Amino acid sequence: MRATILAATAFAFAGTLAWGGCDRPPIDRSAGPGGSDLGGNPYADGTEAGAQPGGICGDAPPLDVRARTTDPRVASVLSGLSLAEKVDQMAGPELTPDMFITADNERVGVRGFRFRDGPRGVRLESGTATCFPVAVARAAAWDLDLEYRVGGAIGAETRGLGHNCLLAPTVNVLRHPGWGRAQEAYGEDPWLTGMVGIASTRGIQTRVPACVKHFAANNIEDTRMTNNAVIDEQTLREVYARHFEMIVKEADAACVMAAYNKVNGQYCCENPPLLRDLLKGEWGFDGFVVSDWFAAKSTVESALGGLDVEMPFRANYSGLQLAVSGGQVPQEVIDEAVERILRIKFKFGFALLNEPYVGDPAVVESPAHTSLAREAARKGMVLLKNDGGALPIDAAKDKRIAVVGKWATQARLGDAGSSNVTPGYAVAPYLGIRTRAGSGAQVTTSQDASAAAGADVAVVVVALTQQDEGEAWNGGGDRDSLDLSPDQEQLVRDTAAVAARTVVVIEAGGPITMERWIGDADAIVMAWYPGMEGGRALADVLFGDFDFSGRLVQTWPKRWEDEPAFGNHQAETEMDYWHGYRHFDKTGVEPLFPFGFGLSYSTFSHSNLRIPCGTITPGGLLRVTADVKNTGARAGSEVVQAYVSTPDTTRRRFVKELKGFARVTLSPDETRTVEIPIRIPDLATWDTGTKSWLVEPIRHEVRVGPNARDLPLSGSFVVGPAGKEVAE
Ligand code: BGC
Repeated sequence: MRATILAATAFAFAGTLAWGGCDRPPIDRSAGPGGSDLGGNPYADGTEAGAQPGGICGDAPPLDVRARTTDPRVASVLSGLSLAEKVDQMAGPELTPDMFITADNERVGVRGFRFRDGPRGVRLESGTATCFPVAVARAAAWDLDLEYRVGGAIGAETRGLGHNCLLAPTVNVLRHPGWGRAQEAYGEDPWLTGMVGIASTRGIQTRVPACVKHFAANNIEDTRMTNNAVIDEQTLREVYARHFEMIVKEADAACVMAAYNKVNGQYCCENPPLLRDLLKGEWGFDGFVVSDWFAAKSTVESALGGLDVEMPFRANYSGLQLAVSGGQVPQEVIDEAVERILRIKFKFGFALLNEPYVGDPAVVESPAHTSLAREAARKGMVLLKNDGGALPIDAAKDKRIAVVGKWATQARLGDAGSSNVTPGYAVAPYLGIRTRAGSGAQVTTSQDASAAAGADVAVVVVALTQQDEGEAWNGGGDRDSLDLSPDQEQLVRDTAAVAARTVVVIEAGGPITMERWIGDADAIVMAWYPGMEGGRALADVLFGDFDFSGRLVQTWPKRWEDEPAFGNHQAETEMDYWHGYRHFDKTGVEPLFPFGFGLSYSTFSHSNLRIPCGTITPGGLLRVTADVKNTGARAGSEVVQAYVSTPDTTRRRFVKELKGFARVTLSPDETRTVEIPIRIPDLATWDTGTKSWLVEPIRHEVRVGPNARDLPLSGSFVVGPAGKEVAE
């Protein structure tokens, strides 16, 4: 199984296209990235200089854990463990206040797990760590190199603090914009989530094992403990499992967390079709499966179903020994689980107590990490509206700047659930703006609109709170409306009535509906929850020191009613094929802001799509190119997106799907040819008849442009031995 997958992967990325006499234009290889290869850090970006992971992490050289060898010591340690000791490996202790450990085995000298959340930094009970912008903000940067570096930094802090497994990334797709954990994940698109998840996992695993979560279909928060997600086979494969498959196979994820909910009637922690057949069988996953915290519900069914570790306590698995002696659970099931656990411990170098597990605590909140947090925050911020050049703020002319609203002086970092991180400091918007403006301008603040009266520019900071959205602890949960609170909507209107220009800055994890106030705002910025350096990052882009280069990774609807049913108040939810831009393409409804949308301070034109000629094999890589010109007066960044469709298919397929992108920064008037690699295996649909992925041997249309609803370039190609270029 393993050899087959490796061979297929290598084949896919080697590219087997024959270039038959086609002119290939000079290509900007610093632009990117859309595809990947199997190298160490395949995500060289080229838009802003950034340190490489080794430089950022500072301590030992990055681990190379992609070699799929098993340490010979695994077998000898395994054979020396008693049944009771094996079960100890498979669960948290029975009695401990610490919910994130499994016990050390002093007799044979095997170290236990020291798990830590999570997706925006290391979550600690006491002490501080770098708080990065939330995951959705980083995905909105469309910069895989950035996510690789952030993963490397969080991994290094995890290790520096003495922990040995990071409970991240969260990769459930945003099926509905009301999902409470939208902030923790990478948006609605399975392919993009897969690519960003690969980057994150590879980055984290330069230091510690990554635990990819929550497998599978954990897309509702309010009823997550019990909800039964009903999903047909094609939908499961293409929408809810595809990105997990990509991450498991291409990033060699060490750990997968089984979700709380049920999929097709069986809890994910005791779900043989998901854990045994798909994950461990078909995908060749050689790491271990851990339960979400308190998600395991059974002893025998969980063990047989493929759950290797029960967390946080040994509750169900306290019955494992009896189940083995009673013949309900074969000894081999236990041995397989413990072998998986030991394999990861050895692979990441922390199996043995007599071998020191060393990390560098000095990396925690180091200047390199906090400046990476600032880079990530500003790259992910999305400019949604900018009428009349309301932005950037001109430090020479805008002498009176007001920063208003309750959240102007309080940094919003995100929810209070398991991804919560406590940093040593956090820069609120007002502080960031005041510092950047310097002594040349008068910068004032108020919770209401009083400071805005007569201002040249008023920045209204509006936000969601941890009661509005988030993991369902301490409030949180799903949203029942996408509106801002009425008082914040009123604040926007009040400000617009008294200030010369009104800029609305939103801090939230998901889409906001704004029918009642969009006309009052001259400019609107989606800042997400921007992390501990958020205020400074905001000033970076508001004053135009950097361009806005973030693009939405979620479709923003005009109204809640434009979305499919959420189903977050019922015991069973049908998760059908359509969501996000796929749903809007099908219904024809205009979104407020389409997937991939975001303005720049400059403008761009796109031209000259070229699809290389030659045979296009189902395992190949197609390097399409397009010219991008900066038609504005300032340097700026563009994310060129490629969507692929199969207009002649007779199967149930999406109208189009994102399959490649390139990020590029251009000077005024500059034109560059960017390359967008499209991995042909990514174009496959799930064939329920043969139960396999199928790249249809038919015409594929590629459409290229700045977002899902603005794709001015198109061309097509046929996959198959006789495939040839038919670029238009
Ligand atoms: C969350 C997981 C988290 C775990 C441990 C659960 O409630 O769903 O994402 O890793 O808690 O904190």
